[in-house]
Amino acid sequence: MSKQRLLFSASEVYPFAKSGGLADVAYSLPRALGTEYEVHVIMPLYQFVDRERFNIVSLGEHFDVVMGGVVYPVELFGCQYEGLEYRFIYSPLLCDRDFLYGPPDSGYEDNATRYGIFNYAMVALLKQEAYTVVHLNDWQSALVPLLIKEDKTIQTKTVFTIHNLAYQGVFEPSVLKTLGIDKRYFTMDSMEFYGQVNFMKAGIAYADMITTVSPTYAKEILSSKFGCGLEGFLHYHRHKLVGIVNGIDTEHFSPSEDKTLITTYVDLRGKAVNKRAYLKEIALKDAKKPLFIFVGRFASQKGLDLLIEALPKIVALECNIAILGEGEGKYHDALKSIASKHHNIHLTFGYDEALSHRMYAAADFFLMPSLFEPCGLAQMIAMHYGSLPIVHQVGGLADTVHHYKDFDAKSTKGYGIIFSEPRDVLFIKAIDEAMELYVHKRHYNKIAKHNMRCDFSWQESAKSYLEIYEKISEKKSDV
Ligand code: ADP
Ligand code: GLC
Repeated sequence: MSKQRLLFSASEVYPFAKSGGLADVAYSLPRALGTEYEVHVIMPLYQFVDRERFNIVSLGEHFDVVMGGVVYPVELFGCQYEGLEYRFIYSPLLCDRDFLYGPPDSGYEDNATRYGIFNYAMVALLKQEAYTVVHLNDWQSALVPLLIKEDKTIQTKTVFTIHNLAYQGVFEPSVLKTLGIDKRYFTMDSMEFYGQVNFMKAGIAYADMITTVSPTYAKEILSSKFGCGLEGFLHYHRHKLVGIVNGIDTEHFSPSEDKTLITTYVDLRGKAVNKRAYLKEIALKDAKKPLFIFVGRFASQKGLDLLIEALPKIVALECNIAILGEGEGKYHDALKSIASKHHNIHLTFGYDEALSHRMYAAADFFLMPSLFEPCGLAQMIAMHYGSLPIVHQVGGLADTVHHYKDFDAKSTKGYGIIFSEPRDVLFIKAIDEAMELYVHKRHYNKIAKHNMRCDFSWQESAKSYLEIYEKISEKKSDV
């Protein structure tokens, strides 16, 4: 019997292109699936992807995508990386850009056309090669289930994963014509959304299964507080919605093997060496003080307003703070203004993978006051590197971080400091608790060491995805 085949699609995949956790998931989940499926990971071949470094070559296949009567040339590329097969869609309009989705603070105006090409190109591939399942991620690949339905000849089953409901791919109604999608899909039970065209709705409506990245977020998005206007639509489709918590790649994020660190470590002594080296690197003094870090996108989702409001009070404590990130200009400005007045805070603007690893290794506490968080990987990376996360109890943070006051050395859960509402008084109270816990260093160390031993890998969650693939493929044979 020939092996089942899986096409795993994402608009960003580490290490080729990354703006956030989606790229990490698209790197680590496919490799955690084991050998049951022959897996091909597919993404756009953006011009900034390093073709030479990854030995990405043309597979000699050229074809045209015809969308709304316009012809877009496509070329298929491929490479093998760390034992996995990758496929890349190259089309000039989709790929020849400086940024993935647009410059900071904005999206490219023609993103609907760009990702329309990506979706049509994948469907062309599905027509040529028999894949059992295609696993689609976020709005950038959400049209595929609709296009498969329209095609009628493709047998491939579809899983659509929502990583963040706040980004739905919503465009002017005129894009329907550009995308060559029939007007009959412009209805409330399909792609229409308050008079606009919504890519994510196509994924939700037509995929065989919908998943999201934590069980708590799967429940939250059925409410108006977190549903971003799609709560009713999701409620209607809830029979095919499942929450599966993300994992982290424990080889890529591994303090005992991480080559980007000053020194690799398996215990807190080794971690302390990293802390001293990092403080020296950024010229912050006194390694005895707790080091709080923030690594993430400067977006309201990540609780930047809360962080900025609380920072003047945090910097007044006997601690050091280091922040790495990029995003909305207003947050850059506000952080710069606070940092200019205090000696115990250090800012790095930009995206720097290696530096983020050095920071996880150096930190005592990891700040993650997100307003909402579908899953979040950073808190798990932090715990794996022996730092305690300080989190708002929401989404995947609620599923992966447990309150240090309930610490149980025998459990397999990770622990941190949790606050229940995104209010600055509660956030500051959590920081005070962290300061207090740090004074009781033996207890703090016990928790940090425990966190380092917890299993944040994909092992269990990968099994859940395999079960879903199996379930929907069986449906095919029923028909
Ligand atoms: P999100 O996907 O919402 O941004 P996650 O916590 O799921 O949040 O994943 C964020 C990933 O991106 C983590 O691997 C984190 O370390 C990384 N990251 C975020 N911002 C930066 C940055 N400025 N430099 C380096 N890595 C970053
Ligand atoms: C999104 C979410 C984040 C999640 C990541 C990977 O970017 O904001 O919570 O961890 O996707 O699923």
